[in-house]
Parts: sequence; C-alpha cells; structure tokens
Amino acid sequence: MEGGAELLFYVNGRKVTEKNVDPETMLLPYLRKKLRLTGTKYGCGGGGCGACTVMISRYNPITKKIRHYPANACLTPICSLYGAAVTTVEGIGSTKTRIHPVQERIAKCHGTQCGFCTPGMVMSLYTLLRNHPEPTLTQLNDALGGNLCRCTGYRPIINACKTFCKTSGCCQSKENGVCCLDQGINGLPEFEEGNETSLKLFSEEEFLPLDPTQELIFPPELMTMAEKKTQKTRIFGSDRMTWISPVTLKELLEAKVKYPQAPVVMGNTSVGPDMKFKGIFHPVIISPDRIEELSVVNYTDNGLTLGAAVSLAEVKDILANVTRKLPEEKTQMYHALLKHLETLAGPQIRNMASLGGHIVSRHPDSDLNPLLAVGNCTLNLLSKEGRRQIPLNEQFLRKCPSADLKPEEILISVNIPYSRKWEFVSAFRQAQRQQNALAIVNSGMRVCFGKGDGIIRELSIAYGGVGPTTILANNSCQKLIGRPWNEEMLDAACRLILDEVSLPGSAPGGRVEFKRTLIVSFLFKFYLEVSQILKGMNADPKQLSQDPVGHPIMHLSGIKHATGEAVYCDDMPVVDRELFLTFVTSSRAHAKIVSIDVSAALSLPGVVDILTGEHLPSITTTFDFLTDADQLLSTDEVSCVGQLVCAVIADSEVQARRAAQQVKIVYQDLEPVILTIEEAIQNKSFFEPERKLEYGNVDEAFKVVDQILEGEIHMGGQEHFYMETQSMLVVPKGEDREIDVYVSAQFPKYIQDITASVLKVSANKVMCHVKRVGGAFGGKVTKTGVLAAITAFAANKHGRPVRCILERGEDILITGGRHPYLGKYKAGFMNDGRILALDMEHYNNAGAFLDESLFVIEMGLLKLENAYKFPNLRCRGWACRTNLPSNTALRGFGFPQAGLITEACITEVAAKCGLPPEKVRMINMYKEIDQTPYKQEINTKNLTQCWKECMATSSYTLRKAAVEKFNSENYWKKKGLAMVPLKYPIGLGSVAAGQAAALVHIYLDGSVLVTHGGIEMGQGVHTKMIQVASRELRMPLSSIHLRGTSTETIPNTNPSGGSVVADLNGLAVKDACQTLLKRLKPIISKNPKGTWKDWAQAAFNESISLSATGYFRGYESNINWETGEGHPFEYFVYGAACSEVEIDCLTGAHKNIRTDIVMDVGYSINPALDVGQIEGAFIQGMGLYTIEELNYSPQGVLYTRGPNQYKIPAICDIPMELHISFLPPSENSNTLYSSKGLGESGIFLGCSVFFAIHDAIRAARQERGLPGPLRLNSPLTPEKIRMACEDKFTKMIPRDEPGSYVPWSVPI
Ligand SMILES: Cc1cc2nc3c(=O)[nH]c(=O)nc-3n(C[C@H](O)[C@H](O)[C@H](O)COP(=O)(O)OP(=O)(O)OC[C@H]3O[C@@H](n4cnc5c(N)ncnc54)[C@H](O)[C@@H]3O)c2cc1C
Ligand code: FES
Ligand code: FES
Repeated sequence: MEGGAELLFYVNGRKVTEKNVDPETMLLPYLRKKLRLTGTKYGCGGGGCGACTVMISRYNPITKKIRHYPANACLTPICSLYGAAVTTVEGIGSTKTRIHPVQERIAKCHGTQCGFCTPGMVMSLYTLLRNHPEPTLTQLNDALGGNLCRCTGYRPIINACKTFCKTSGCCQSKENGVCCLDQGINGLPEFEEGNETSLKLFSEEEFLPLDPTQELIFPPELMTMAEKKTQKTRIFGSDRMTWISPVTLKELLEAKVKYPQAPVVMGNTSVGPDMKFKGIFHPVIISPDRIEELSVVNYTDNGLTLGAAVSLAEVKDILANVTRKLPEEKTQMYHALLKHLETLAGPQIRNMASLGGHIVSRHPDSDLNPLLAVGNCTLNLLSKEGRRQIPLNEQFLRKCPSADLKPEEILISVNIPYSRKWEFVSAFRQAQRQQNALAIVNSGMRVCFGKGDGIIRELSIAYGGVGPTTILANNSCQKLIGRPWNEEMLDAACRLILDEVSLPGSAPGGRVEFKRTLIVSFLFKFYLEVSQILKGMNADPKQLSQDPVGHPIMHLSGIKHATGEAVYCDDMPVVDRELFLTFVTSSRAHAKIVSIDVSAALSLPGVVDILTGEHLPSITTTFDFLTDADQLLSTDEVSCVGQLVCAVIADSEVQARRAAQQVKIVYQDLEPVILTIEEAIQNKSFFEPERKLEYGNVDEAFKVVDQILEGEIHMGGQEHFYMETQSMLVVPKGEDREIDVYVSAQFPKYIQDITASVLKVSANKVMCHVKRVGGAFGGKVTKTGVLAAITAFAANKHGRPVRCILERGEDILITGGRHPYLGKYKAGFMNDGRILALDMEHYNNAGAFLDESLFVIEMGLLKLENAYKFPNLRCRGWACRTNLPSNTALRGFGFPQAGLITEACITEVAAKCGLPPEKVRMINMYKEIDQTPYKQEINTKNLTQCWKECMATSSYTLRKAAVEKFNSENYWKKKGLAMVPLKYPIGLGSVAAGQAAALVHIYLDGSVLVTHGGIEMGQGVHTKMIQVASRELRMPLSSIHLRGTSTETIPNTNPSGGSVVADLNGLAVKDACQTLLKRLKPIISKNPKGTWKDWAQAAFNESISLSATGYFRGYESNINWETGEGHPFEYFVYGAACSEVEIDCLTGAHKNIRTDIVMDVGYSINPALDVGQIEGAFIQGMGLYTIEELNYSPQGVLYTRGPNQYKIPAICDIPMELHISFLPPSENSNTLYSSKGLGESGIFLGCSVFFAIHDAIRAARQERGLPGPLRLNSPLTPEKIRMACEDKFTKMIPRDEPGSYVPWSVPI
C-alpha cells in the first residue's frame, strides 16, 4: 500500500492535485472555497435538493468507454475522485467566453427566478445531453427528478429542456400549427412598449445549436492513468481520518483484514449522510477504486449476477435491457425492481449509490431489499478465508450474526434469479411525494402457483418502512401455501399479516394506522394484479400531453443564474481574517437554563469566542417583532426548541460547528409545554389583542335560516424552503465604527436598525447590502435581522469579518414558517345554498414569540370572505402562544389559511344542501358593485369574468360528466374536479408601509444606473424596474443597469413583500425618471435627434443635475379595528382555478391531471415574469395543501428538517396539463401602468387541488355507503386520502386507544 498519496483529478479541464488532502472534505466545499467555483450551490448538504449537481466523468479501461453521470457534490468525498473529471456549471459556458445552449435556453425560456437552483438544473440537463443529445420526454423528466426548485413551478424549465428533444419545438404542442414560443401569452395583446421589445423576443431559431463536438473532452492524461496496470492502493490521511483506496481485490481484502470495522464506501450516499447528520464517525474508510470483480454483469442460466459496485442507475439500465430481451415470465423480478428504481431517489443518487452499498446498508425503508428478499437472491461474499454464498433473507436483513457478512468480508456480487412460469412478482410503495421520496411503506411480493391450478405453491411477502429492518411475513405466507388464490385466501392473508407485521402506536415515523392500512392495501393490490394476469387481463392508463406558456423579457440575471456567475451572499470571496459564526440552539421546548459550559468548546483549535446572552446588550429600540425576545440569545429560559442560546465563532466553518457540539447546556424543564393550538386554547395562551370584525347582524340572521351547521378545519404549517439558506457576511470597516452587512434579506432597514442598536451606534454607521436573494417567500423579513445583529456584534467585538451561513437543518428549525391554523365555523344558510350568516373563529399557532403573527391574523380576517358576500359575518381571531419556534410571514400571509377555511365551510354547506359546490360558490359570490365586511366599496366584475372564463376554458361541465362516468366505472380509483374563485386584496394596512424610493443616475456616456428599495428575490423586480426606466426615459434596456439594494443609496426602505414590491418601487422609479426628464426637457428639445450621451454631456455643461430621487408615498390604506371599518386595500387581484385529480383509494396516492387558471392581472408589465409568479405560487400552494407536512415530536422537536423528510413539490407533481390565461387588461388608474401585484395570490389557487381530491374522496365514500359530512384537514396527504377512503381494509386494522401510547408526532 502507498501512503501519503497525491490526489489527482480534473475540474473543468484543469488538473487538480492535492498533497495533503483531508478525507472528510466533500467536493462541494472544495469547489466553492478552495477552487472558488461558486456556481455549484449548497442547498441541503444531504443529496436531497440537487443544487450542488455536477457532472462526473470516468474512463473505463476495459470497456474503453467514458461514463458521464450527474452527482451531488455535497456527498462526494474528494478522495473518491482520483482519476475522475468533474465538470461544473462554470466549465460548460460563461458570459465571458461562450454561453452553453443549455444555459441560454433555461434563461431565455424563463426557467430561472431566484436562480439558486439553476446551476444544478443546468448540470442535470447538460449531463443528460452528454449521454443523449436528443433525449425523450421521459428521459428529461427523469433527469430532473433529483433537482428541486421552489420558485418556478418547473414548467418553464421543462419547456427549455424540451427544445432539445428530437420531436419538438419548445412545447411539443403545435396546436393550430403555432408553437408556444411563437404565440404570445395565451393570446393576449402584446406588451406594446414603444416597439422597443416584442413578445416574440426569442424563438427557437435564435437558440444556439447544441454541438456535442464543442464539449470538453475527457482529459487524455486520465485515460493513460486508467490504462496503467501498475497502480497501488492509495492512502490519504488527516489527523482524524484515513482514506484507503485499494485498486485490486487482494488489496481490498488485506485492508479489510487490517481494518475490519472500516466501512466500504462506494457511493457514500448512506455512510455520508450518517456521518453528517447522525454524527457517526469512521477513523478509517476503505473505498475500492475500479475493482473489476465488483463490477461484473453476468447472465447465467439461473439469472443475473450483478457486481456490488454497479451503480443503481446502471442496474436500472441493465434491467431495462434484460426485460426488453427476455420473455416476461423470466423477468418478473426485474420488472418489479425496475419499477422501484424509477422512483428511488433522483438520478444523482442513483448514479452514485451502488447495489452493494444499498443492500448492505439495510435501511429499514430500502426499496430494493424487500424485493430481493422475496426473490431468493443470494450474496457472493469474499474474504481472505475464501468465497461463500449467503441468502438475502430475513436473518440477513435483521443483521443476525450467523447470517451476516463477517467484518473482514466483502460483498462481491448479487445473484438475482429469473422468474419461472406461474411465478409473479410485484413491487409497491407509497411515499409523501411520488418520486425522490423515501417510501412510507414499500413492499415486495412474490407468488408461485402450481401449473395452471391457481394453488399457491410459494409465497413471499416483505415490507419496508414498518419496523427497524425490512420485515418478512414468513409465518403468514407459510400458512397460505396450498390455498387457492381467491377472496377467502385474501381475507385470511390480511388478518394473518396484520397479526405478524404489527406496529406499535408509538412507532417511529408515526402514521401508524396509515401504515397498517397500506400493509393490507398492497396485499389487495397484489391479489388484484395477479388475479388479472391469471385471467389474462391488463390495462394501462395513457399520458396526456402538456401545454406551456409564452414569455417576453427574460429575467435580468437569467443568463448569470444559468452560468453560475450570479453572486449570492455566500459566493462572496473570503475576506482577510474572516471568521465563521454558528449557533447553539435550545434542545428543550420550555426550560430554565441552569448552566452553560463553554470551556470544552473554547479549548478547541481555531475557536475564537463564544457569545451568550450575557455578552449581548438588550435591544433598546422598539421593534414590534421582538416584543418578547428582547434578548437575542437566551440566558435564563428557553421557550422553544431551536431558540438561539450561544454563538460560536471560529477560524473556519468546520471548527465552529465542531465546537458548537461541545457546548454543554444544562436545562431544568418547566411546565406547561404548549405545542398545539388546542392546548393553547385550553390554557388561554394568546398574544394580545384578540381581533374581531363584524358585519350585519349575525345573531338575527341565524334565526331566519333554513339550516345551521358547525364545523372546523385544521391546516398545517409550511416551511419556506427558499433554496438559499439564511446567509450573511459582516465586515467592520475599522474606521468610525462603520460596518457593512452583506446579507440575503427582504428588509435591509430592519437589519440596519437592529444592528445599530446592538452595536450602540447610529444607523448611519451601518450599511446593509443585498445583491440578490436565493428565494425568501417571507422568511427573510424578520428572522434574518436577529441572526445578522448577532453576527455583526461578533464582527464588531473582534474587529474581523464574520460570515454566518445556516445549514438547511438549522435554518428550518430556527426560522419557523407559515402558521398552522384552526378554523371554526358556524354557517346559517337557506336550502338553495345562500349563506346568510357566518360566525368564524381563527386561531393560528404563533409559536413562542409574536413576530408577525398578529398581523397574519388580521390579514386573515380581512381577507377571509374571499370572493363571497356574506351579508352577516362575524369573525374573531387569536394568535396562540405556544412552545414552538415562532412562525412568521410566508407568501399569502394568512390568506391561504383563511381562504381554505371559508371554502371548506362552503363545500360542507353544498353537501348539506345536496348541491354541487361550484353552484353554492356561484350563488354566494360578490355581485358586481358591492361592499366588503369592512365597508370598502368593491367592483367585482372581473371576478365574475374570471369564473366564467375558467368554467369555459376548463370545459367544466363536460369534464364533470366525464369524471362521474369514470367514477361509476372504477371502484379503487376515483377522479375529482373542483373550481375555486379568488379575490386577493392588495394593501399593507397603512400608507407609510407602502412608501418607496428610488435613485436614478445618468452618466455622461448616456448610461443609467437605477437603484430602488425593492429586493430581487426571484420575482424579477429589478427586471421590471429596468423596464419602467426604459419606458420613462425612452431608452433601450441595455443602457440601464441595476446593481442591487443598499441602505446606503435608498434609506428607510420597507420590507419587500405583500405582492407590491414592483408596484411601489416602480412608481418611485417612474417619479425619478420623470423628474430627470423634466429637468432635461430643454436640452432634449434643443437637440431632439441627439443621443443620451449628447444630452447628458449638454446637461453637465449647463450644470444640470443628472441624478434624481423618486418617491411614492404609499397607497391609501387604513383599518379601524374598533369599528371594523376602513379602506385597507388599494385593489384586488381576481382569478379562478379548476383542477382535476385522480386518487388511488388503496394507497392514497394522487395524480394531478389538469389545472386551468384564469387571472385578472391588469396590464402585465412583463407577462413572462407574471406567469412565472402565478405558476410558481400555484405549485407552492399545491404543496402546501397536499404534501408539505411538518412533523413535531411530543416534546416539540421538529423532525422534518431537510428535503429528505419534508417534501416540497418536485417535477413529478406538476399537473400533466396546466393552462394559465389572463383576462383582457383593464384600466387601474392608481397602480403602475395599471398592472397588478401577483406574487402571492396564486398560492391560494393550489387549494383547487385540495378540493378536487376532496371531491374524489367524496365519490369513493358515497359508493361505499358513507354519504355523511366529509371533513378533511390540510395538507391532504396520501395518509389522509387513504384513511378517508374507508373500506374493509381500514376497518380490518387494529386501532390503538388514544392515551394508551405516546404518538411519534403531534399535529400542531
Ligand atoms: C437523498 C437520498 C435519497 C434516497 N432515496 C432512496 C429511496 O427513495 N429509496 C431507497 O431505497 N433508498 C434511498 N436512498 C438510500 C440509497 O439507496 C442508499 O444510500 C444507497 O443505495 C447506498 O449505496 P452506497 O453505494 O452509496 O453506499 P455507501 O454509503 O457507500 O455504503 C453503505 C454501506 O454499505 C457497505 N458496503 C458497501 N459496499 C460493500 C461491499 N461491497 N461489501 C461490504 N460492504 C459494503 C459499507 O460498508 C457501508 O456500511 C436515498 C439516499 C439519499 C442520500
Ligand atoms: S446541496 Fe447537495 S443535494 Fe442539496
Ligand atoms: S429559481 Fe429555482 S429555486 Fe429559485
């Protein structure tokens, strides 16, 4: 073995060598910090988001082929890269050299908003094209399955990708012979901005062609190295870890004898996350490098033998090939494995992970092990003692020593036998999301019959996700042998298996009754599948095509997003003597801090300081948001898990994080611990004041109505999941106590104020700069301020720059999210569906501190009536104080919750009246000129129009009939259709909250610099501002530049949020431009044919200022909570959405078939950006109402702290058809060019999917004789769908008495 080897690999065609490599280093920090290639982003660190995707290429000297595959840099140890070529987003193209067609098309098709996910998307697509220059649509969807985007809703990204497909133009839907890129925005009149721009900015013909010959070649040096047979084991080492890479089987076995406890790292997708998230440390790692015997693929008489090192992606390709070639009766197992390999993780993980690593890891939720276990597979093992074979059976999966690998043994390969005639194998899984999500329960089932007699000869059933290992129901299967395949057998099988595979009520992962139901539902599905085959029957659903939207002006930073050149906060280079700050947070929900011992942490190398609350002064200014948290770090008491207690400052991130783990805090638990809204109500734990709004005479109205119903709905919270975690870099200037704060935030002024207060300096010494934000959605308004103030304190104290970047798990834990809600309603209505009286109570779970919770309640009350006129309405609202991290603003700000409660009530009224919900919606809708509950006049003509248009474009009536027909013909599958209207009020509650400012400079060369108070967080506000300046100054877009937002140029900014950033700042930019034009009018009229350069020079010569500020004082906005009257909103955004879904009653899975959205957007300033906002918000809303679920332990600990546990919509979730159209524009004199703010409203339209699922469940229940009221809480997850479709299986499962066990999680 060779010690102290030199690591050699290539990055973007350049050789990288490392003599003293630390085996703990992953490729992502190496690229970002060491090579300064910051295009590759950190999003989660655990393989779950795809932001860090790079392409890895390896040469195989035996096959002489180069394999290109996508990989997650965050899980790739650099030591594993010896001899590999890495390509990052910077390596494929840049604005300085040549943009790659992938980069160009993603940008020009508007596939970027905040741009943080874009480099990862680009690299996934690029890698696909390296392997398949003309991919199919399936390959496209598959290639992007491991990449998350929180902004775009994916559609524009898919559109960009489709331009590479063989068959297509961009959309592959050339209806009427018109491509989506050619037809404008849904037939809207074009944006007629002085003919400077047109809707048809980019047609496919303009795109750079994809020329595979132009790509980076694989480095010849690496090929030569790989061909050399003389290589020896390489060893890389640091003080803490040794990495051994044997290159022959013999050396591998020797290493295993020497270090029997060392893991054999192949893809590192199991060992890596365990080390990172569970703190499991391995002093020695053995990582075989291209050992031939581990990569065998042998076709034997009995089956297939696959080497342990074959990647899961390769297994998938091999199996796809085999199933094409061999008869179906031989490939039952391969088909089943393929089915799971299609949804197992994303392509990055599948390409990194090995078959051997997957099997040996024995994850309880492994998708492949249950199948391999029922399939009589065997494992070929090798050690210095020799070869042996063991079965992949239950004992192996349970790690029984007699059936397991010995510590010095290696798994060489796996035999997967062919199936035989009369043998059938099936795979089942149900996850929170259809793809790239660990299964909640999965299963492998195999049955073998006697020749044509239907009598069970062999039966094997295994389940994953229902215990600490994969579980086999061997006893039950044994008892069923000899029985015929009929309903009696099924019934007996269900009972036996429920008995054998038992799950305690407190089982980790929760969802116990759902899991029990899935156990029997899968069995039933298997029964049906096999019965159908036996009867020679089969059916296959067909896919529908998709329809995209058009686009005019590309996001200003689109190309830079796609090339990785766009600079986010943590992409800023390291500043001299920079320190890193990380937090220690409370692990208790409510406790007294008895002691904090920082001595062990302080003694670690590189640790500079540890701050506690005692070091930091209390905040002296009055910040509404901090009422209860005037101490930034807790000293005496903690009120939630995740509350900040200490800040550790060290020379590097690694040192700071290691030290943070050494801080010892002793707590004494305090009572009460209030987690849920119900507990808060019981304990009267509310933030003052209660809010109330009353209109008409509710009590009198209840006396005259035909019917009264009372109900309630609970709605879970939501995590922002902006792709860029909270990030800041604070640099003291060393002079006059000046300090610069570079931060990813929505509210620079707040950061400036709180920092000034903590540092005890005036605000003019603190400058806060925001270049761009990688997604925010409300989560970077208040929370960032506290983090930045502490970071600034540390920087100031040590006179050194300090960087603080939260890890994903910390970010989700500390920063809170959307408020969970409980809505109670009492509705009085007539038999024809008219609701005459409504009495509502809203409770939100505010968490431990006030933050913006009361404001959320207020907005919820003011907006709750949505599109309906309730003549007598009373609503009251409370913000509940609980022991959870405090919740905050999130896109929609109370409306998505309040609106859902109202719609749920209407749906129930409809059921009581025996009327279709859409009819009751229509009957109660506002009439054109009307009055809101707070007595503001309103004209809802466009609401009615949106509703009618949506009815028409969605062919509602026809499709409703089709859905009913489908439902009458299918028992286990049901479809649902629902339509909801939208009236989204725009306004901020006060005039002052709407003021905005801008600064416009004209330089002597005729170029213009625009600055304004809005933050670019993906919504494209900077692009719109340049459009405004361009229109006002009648100047080409290319002459105008925008650098970012800073308190230095625009003081006293309001937070960016509430859908009005472009509205308000646009009016300020317009004002500044008009001031300049007025000043320059005499000059321009003297030389009307001159250029801006001429005019600027002339103005300078005449001493006329070429710089102007612009100002907008804010919309009229007021509300008097005493009288419940006012004019809080400037205008209303109207819309309607119709969604169709299909549910699987046995598993709870749902498919989004089609959504039609019609919106009234006024005159759209930039239809591409506006469609992007609607679409992105809709998909985020769909996630909110259907799959995004936060889980808290009964002790108040958040479990769902990353993309592997918390599922936001992925590419697989978007409706198969999504149509968005706008109403013809109408005048709106007070807003910017009659445009409307669209950032938030689309979220609510996601609930059309909720109600479509509701409709499908109702159909299922009706058929099962359960017509009663149907109350479903949000999110409507697979668990809730399944359990609501009650049937003999849900009745069959054992139920635990409430209180007889401690549940794994509590619904907060
Ligand atoms: C983001 C993410 C999503 C995922 N989603 C899914 C999913 O949907 N479904 C699913 O089933 N799984 C999923 N997984 C788990 C994934 O399938 C496993 O992590 C993976 O298969 C392990 O393979 P590996 O090569 O990376 O193992 P490694 O991490 O390299 O090794 C794992 C273990 O196997 C041992 N080992 C490896 N090879 C050998 C050998 N030849 N001989 C002896 N011991 C060996 C090692 O000692 C180690 O203990 C996911 C993982 C991630 C990170
Ligand atoms: S950062 Fe690597 S997958 Fe999220
Ligand atoms: S553009 Fe994809 S996360 Fe923002």
